[in-house]
Amino acid sequence: MKQPIKSILYFIHRILLRIKPYKKLIYACGWDSIRYKSYYRGLHFQSPEGIDPSEVDGYTGENDQQKIVALMENLFHEIKPPVSVLDIGCGTGRYLKQMLSISPKSHFEGIDISKEIVEKFTRKLVPQVPIHILDIETDQTFHMQNPGKFDLICMIGIIQILSLKRIRAILQKVNYLCSDKGYLYIQFNVETDQKKSSVGYKRYSIEELEELIRQCGFEPQKSARTDILKDYAFIIAIKH
Ligand SMILES: C[S@@+](CC[C@H](N)C(=O)[O-])C[C@H]1O[C@@H](n2cnc3c(N)ncnc32)[C@H](O)[C@@H]1O
Repeated sequence: MKQPIKSILYFIHRILLRIKPYKKLIYACGWDSIRYKSYYRGLHFQSPEGIDPSEVDGYTGENDQQKIVALMENLFHEIKPPVSVLDIGCGTGRYLKQMLSISPKSHFEGIDISKEIVEKFTRKLVPQVPIHILDIETDQTFHMQNPGKFDLICMIGIIQILSLKRIRAILQKVNYLCSDKGYLYIQFNVETDQKKSSVGYKRYSIEELEELIRQCGFEPQKSARTDILKDYAFIIAIKH
């Protein structure tokens, strides 16, 4: 769809969101995630040269790389060394790269919806890692083909843009992919007094997300706000 038409439709949609039944319909149909999905699917980079992963993946601040190092060192300090790791919503692969350097003997795989990001960034940054281009919300084959394969599954900066209607089903797929006593690691934007959820961008509280993952077969082991990234938190949970 042409950009001006998209902008007009988005403008109308923003106005209609003030009407409760319209908002309800968006959630009931699972359409709340469409905006981000179409954004990531529609990305196009003329040339990836000179583009920093943080410009693609988010939180462009100072010392992004050092923050990623600290977060991943913290994670690997908390868990048993994983044999096999899956990064859902891996983006450019900047976290995969860091995990690889901490745990070079582990097997890694990634999932992302954006063909453009994967082909222009991820497959260059981590060429040894198989990346599957698929929509974790609607895909019905990947988890069926890989039951119990991964003993660490990461969801970093993705849970807030997944449809609220589908989130349980997604976490159940994650459970199916996870080995017994395997780990789930979620890093996410939390709700604050200044920053609230909006349609299509759900800021979970730590307690809310802990309860949700419990219902999907994971027991939270450690949860905390991370001062490293502003308004972020992480949960490390174990499959029971
Ligand atoms: C904010 S970026 C985070 C990327 C990466 N985890 C990081 O922090 O560096 C969110 C990523 O999730 C991917 N994504 C969004 N919706 C998805 C879906 N339904 N299935 C698979 N990937 C999705 C996007 O393409 C994007 O790369």
